[in-house]
Amino acid sequence: MASKSKFQAIRGTRDLLPPETALWNRVEETARQIFGTFGFGEIRPPILEPTELFARAVGGDTDIVSKEMYTFEDRDESSTSLRPEATASVCRAYIEHGMQQLPLPVKLYYIGPMFRRERPQKGRYRQFYQIGAEVLGGNDAPAIDAEAIEMVMTFFDRLQLPGVQLEINSIGHNADNCRRGYVAQLKSALEKVQDKLGADSQRRIVTNPLRVLDSKLEHEQSIIETLPRIADHLCDECKAHYVAVKHQLQLRGVLYKENWRLVRGLDYYMRTTFEITAAGLGSQDAVCGGGRYDGLVELLGGPPTKGIGFAIGEDRLILSLLEAKNQSPASSRQLLSVYIAWMGEHAHATAIRAAKTLRAAGISVELPPVEQKLGKALERASKLNSRYALILGDNEVAEGSWTLKTLADGSQQKFTEPELLDFLRRNKI
Ligand code: HAM
Repeated sequence: MASKSKFQAIRGTRDLLPPETALWNRVEETARQIFGTFGFGEIRPPILEPTELFARAVGGDTDIVSKEMYTFEDRDESSTSLRPEATASVCRAYIEHGMQQLPLPVKLYYIGPMFRRERPQKGRYRQFYQIGAEVLGGNDAPAIDAEAIEMVMTFFDRLQLPGVQLEINSIGHNADNCRRGYVAQLKSALEKVQDKLGADSQRRIVTNPLRVLDSKLEHEQSIIETLPRIADHLCDECKAHYVAVKHQLQLRGVLYKENWRLVRGLDYYMRTTFEITAAGLGSQDAVCGGGRYDGLVELLGGPPTKGIGFAIGEDRLILSLLEAKNQSPASSRQLLSVYIAWMGEHAHATAIRAAKTLRAAGISVELPPVEQKLGKALERASKLNSRYALILGDNEVAEGSWTLKTLADGSQQKFTEPELLDFLRRNKI
């Protein structure tokens, strides 16, 4: 039972507990399986990285780097941060291990905790988990963008995630005849309406005008609708790339909606950006975000390299599955199979041996460490959701005839030891 303790999990962090952790494991297992079928291998980068890695990759002016990172000076005085995301780490690893020598593109996925000091609320934590994937090297064929999106949609489909909606956009590349030219126009359009904007957007006109398009503020919506749109300012190559990505998505039967305001909150993106929302999440409904980031590896000191990827917010994914009720934690609960109600010293020795044999056969067994009266044992067995109770008294052991009770209906059957193992193997849960 919950009791008041001096110590509590730090704000924005939490304990993941059974039975919900069984659902987390199932989700991660499904990701490994599906990503494996697309040729992705797992990378496990460290959680600590040099602060400068994120400042360079994600961008010094972004909220993530300027306000949300957990940064400390290590004992050797180097500035170190808990990773707020893992794309930068994967690119660092790509360079550090000379992965450009491998057959390209290199396809990697990761699963693990990220840290951002945001204001905690439903679906937003300071320690949260991402399942992400990155495709590095090779070319920038639109089919690569589409296949990455197809992979995450396949994953969501397999999990029967409710209300999945994919939005896509292209934010072009950083050149005068493309995004840079657009941003200049956007900036002057924003300056004209500056007085009508909130403080955050006013600040962003200077630091990152594109992010104004992200605003959720009610009174800014009608103003944003009048702003110039990036689709009208893409260069010919970026325009053609975007058209081809949409075509490639259609070939894969992936449904999408275009959203010209989808700019993403990290600086490394170019061309394709996308976000996926799911049902039951309230205001924090983005369950996946990603996009193309050609040039990021080079920015971090590596060779010119194409890149695209995404990260799924695993906490939100689980929330949405739980809200949908098709995945109640109870249904993912591992039902205990056999509770061994032993009574007597001989029976204890036999119970220990039986537990070993059953567990080796993959059957879940609860073996009470001290003797219990039969009534007590059966009570505890049903509290633990056990399917069967194996009743072992000294008499049963002497006779070699073991009683198995099905707790749901109270029926009992007698077995010899080999018969019992055979029966449980056939009825394993
Ligand atoms: P992001 O949009 O910052 O992208 O995060 C991706 C997803 O992580 C979000 O859509 C959301 O589901 C989840 N997420 C982010 N912050 C929190 C939080 N505080 N609490 C719970 N969930 C959260 C990236 O991180 C990029 N690295 C994605 C990427 C990979 N782009 C290319 N490759």
